[in-house]
Amino acid sequence: MMKKLKEAFTFICSSDVWRMALLWTIALLFSYFQLLKNTIFGSKSTTSSSSNHSHTHRPVCVITGATSGLGKASAFKLSKKGFYVVLVGRSSHLLSKTLNEIKRQNADARLKAFEVDMSSFQSVLKFRNSLEQWLLESDLHSSIQLLVNNAGILATSSRPTFEGFDRMIATNYVGAFSLTKLLLPLLRNSHVPSRVVNVTSFTHRAAFAGRFDMDSVTGVNFSRSKQYPCARVYEYSKLCLLLFSYELHRQLHLTDDSHHISVVAVDPGAVETNIMHELPSYIQVMAICSLKILRLMQSPEDAAESVLDAALAPPEMSGKYFFGRKGRSIESSALSRDPELAKELWDTSCLIFNELQQTHIG
Ligand SMILES: NC(=O)c1ccc[n+]([C@@H]2O[C@H](COP(=O)([O-])OP(=O)(O)OC[C@H]3O[C@@H](n4cnc5c(N)ncnc54)[C@H](OP(=O)(O)O)[C@@H]3O)[C@@H](O)[C@H]2O)c1
Repeated sequence: MMKKLKEAFTFICSSDVWRMALLWTIALLFSYFQLLKNTIFGSKSTTSSSSNHSHTHRPVCVITGATSGLGKASAFKLSKKGFYVVLVGRSSHLLSKTLNEIKRQNADARLKAFEVDMSSFQSVLKFRNSLEQWLLESDLHSSIQLLVNNAGILATSSRPTFEGFDRMIATNYVGAFSLTKLLLPLLRNSHVPSRVVNVTSFTHRAAFAGRFDMDSVTGVNFSRSKQYPCARVYEYSKLCLLLFSYELHRQLHLTDDSHHISVVAVDPGAVETNIMHELPSYIQVMAICSLKILRLMQSPEDAAESVLDAALAPPEMSGKYFFGRKGRSIESSALSRDPELAKELWDTSCLIFNELQQTHIG
């Protein structure tokens, strides 16, 4: 009991709590302010390019972190839109529970589940192989039409992965980068334009500077700190995901692929999910209550509409940052839009990816 109280006291005295309470709230309010400004000064919102799909040609969608919160609600909505939804999660028990729940609500849903640990390159690589095998064995075309990189954690301690990376960065960024690189051939194979959706966060606005060398992108330098800077690591991982989204968009539009694979980032705003489960419960209660009082907290079902907007927006919306539902987009932070930083991150991420591939494939 005393130990728990001491831990709670130490946590509330840490700069992380104040960073989350103040900077993250300001970042969220700033995003809504931008949305309001765009609404008043007439920036257009987009409408979905496709509606429900027919049974014979169901597009295939891969969604990570599909067993809880935003991922689960989005998986359900995508199944309703006619996608063949590939659920990716780290727990086989939660995967079958989610699968059954979606089936109960939508008997017409076509679903497939894969157990994958997004923080492990080996597991991501194994998933790519299993997915290819499954597509080959089923009567589906050897391609996917949509990849939603949604899995994410807000960890309060470093907990290095098998590869020695910081677990939060490995899950939120390196895993998403690696999966996208590995699935690009399947996205390219699609007969219709395909899409990558990266789920990022307004918290990226609190990251004022960033280094994108090997130690930073693997999170090793964060793990060296005396007290794990969980808020800063989360912001950094979401900033990386945004820089990556814009750079991938640029890279794809420089090649012959132009307009075939589009890339968008989506920020769902504040959502009542399990994301804060590692924080002390009194902090969770305080955060949820204050966001509800400010009327900024959404249900996963409502927030999943943003993911759907991002998934179904027309291809010319590639490179945009969706926020605030109804197909609306705003500008992300100036730092996240810096093409030089994006290139630096891209180069480091490719180095990490190549090293991991060499280790695991030989
Ligand atoms: N909630 C918000 O306010 C908010 C705001 C902005 C952005 N986001 C982003 O939205 C995304 C979804 O989060 P959420 O709020 O829905 O939180 P959540 O309820 O905790 O869902 C996170 C999902 O990611 C999965 N996951 C975590 N680590 C994984 C790993 N190593 N391998 C595979 N899957 C893993 C979780 O699996 P388990 O079910 O096994 O835990 C869960 O399904 C995240 O990227 C988050 O950063 C959330």
